Amino acid sequence: MVNKEKCKLTAARAAVEYIKDNQIVGIGSGSTIAHAIHCLGEKIQSTGIKIMAVPTSYQSAMLLTEYNIPITTLNEHPVLDIAIDGTDEVDPNFNLIKGGGAALTQEKIIDSAAKKLIIIADESKKVKFLGEKTALPIEVIPMALKTVTNKIKELTTEIKLRMAVKKLGPVVTDNGNFIIDARFSKIKDPESLEKELNVIPGVVENGLFVNMTDIVIIGQEDKVEILEKK
Ligand code: A5P
Repeated sequence: MVNKEKCKLTAARAAVEYIKDNQIVGIGSGSTIAHAIHCLGEKIQSTGIKIMAVPTSYQSAMLLTEYNIPITTLNEHPVLDIAIDGTDEVDPNFNLIKGGGAALTQEKIIDSAAKKLIIIADESKKVKFLGEKTALPIEVIPMALKTVTNKIKELTTEIKLRMAVKKLGPVVTDNGNFIIDARFSKIKDPESLEKELNVIPGVVENGLFVNMTDIVIIGQEDKVEILEKK
């Protein structure tokens, strides 16, 4: 059996190679990114490079602090040199579904502010069509839950409000909103669906990341596959 954590670590280590001295770096969220923060901490220790990181969630902010990596904000540094993020799915055009950890909105803002976006993942995240394996997360303002749900029902009937674990009721995002997971099985035109969902009043953002990624690094146990956008 493949050791997934080892694959994630291999991808994370390769991505951190791209980070250079004096850069402002966007840092995604999730378990693959946790490995990247660890590798970045080691790199800073061993090389003495100075960087500042912009986290995409409380999770990544707390991990960055743990590794003594200085944090800044997008308001102080609205243009980032590079961002590294994980994904739930990646298609052959480098389009993504993100938001498995409910951090999609800050991730999309920060990833889109970067001159270069590197996505790290293990093999299991590769799909032919987005939606093949995972539902699409959509962040919704709580008072609009019902009206947004009704609108999304016109596009798919497989909709679930994401429920919290070890907390009663729904997941509440870092921005104080709810997450709807909508299953689309095969998303043929991610660009149109991304726009269609985002114009529904009450939708804050959805997990389709279209035409944003520059490099995808797929980690295997002992090597990486580096795919660059042509
Ligand atoms: C967070 O909301 C997500 O977008 C993550 O980046 C994505 O779910 C990947 O997470 P893992 O690296 O834990 O699979």
